[in-house]
Amino acid sequence: MKTGDFNVGNREISDAVIRRLPRYYRFLGELKDSGTERISSKELSEIMNVTASQIRQDLNNFGGFGQQGYGYNVELLYKEIGRILGLTKMHNLILIGAGNLGQALAGYVNFEKRGFIMRGIFDINDKLFGEYIRNIPIMSINQMEQFIKENNIDMAVIAIPKSAAVEVAKKLVDCNIKAIWNFSHIDLDVPAGVVVENVHLSESLMRLSYAMNTEKYGKEK
Ligand code: NAI
Repeated sequence: MKTGDFNVGNREISDAVIRRLPRYYRFLGELKDSGTERISSKELSEIMNVTASQIRQDLNNFGGFGQQGYGYNVELLYKEIGRILGLTKMHNLILIGAGNLGQALAGYVNFEKRGFIMRGIFDINDKLFGEYIRNIPIMSINQMEQFIKENNIDMAVIAIPKSAAVEVAKKLVDCNIKAIWNFSHIDLDVPAGVVVENVHLSESLMRLSYAMNTEKYGKEK
């Protein structure tokens, strides 16, 4: 199963709406931190550069949260979206692959602010064993199974070459990992009950390239 549609009280919420929620969460978090208590869909739409009707439609999927003439209570909406995104719980993560990408991910502190705590890093390169990234130990992949059992790990990040990703993902599933954040360039086939989010920075770059080209050709016309 891939990440996808979501049920709220028997209503199916589309993947497109779910994909927009982190952005709402980010903007609302910034508004909350700046002391804003309430905001209208019009004001929110101006800051986020989407239409007010899109915002109303999206948030109506979850019961609205807004009141006519009052707008949205920023803190309440922020908390509700956080709850929908499962951010009220802490998640224990492990990372597989302590190379360039893995080190950058492990070095990024802000995941912890969102409740994603990286507990351990696993690799096959014995030169890395015993090293730390921040305070996170790098261990042998052979220790992974035991570590998952002992540390209540529910999520894993894969940042290894694609040739090894399928086998590692299978091991993770066998160890009862429920969610895989996959950076390896391969689509992983996992059983029901396990979710995968594939991240491809190069696809984002290609979309940027497309946008740049259409902008350029648009102007040339
Ligand atoms: P890297 O070569 O610097 O690091 C790979 C690490 O994985 C090494 O430390 C290696 O020892 C380890 N490794 C290899 N096989 C393993 C196994 N079976 N178990 C545990 N560890 C293992 O590579 P880099 O640049 O960090 O990239 C890692 C992967 O991520 C590559 O597949 C690359 O294509 C992909 N990548 C994906 C991006 C994305 O946007 N999705 C962006 C950048 C890289």
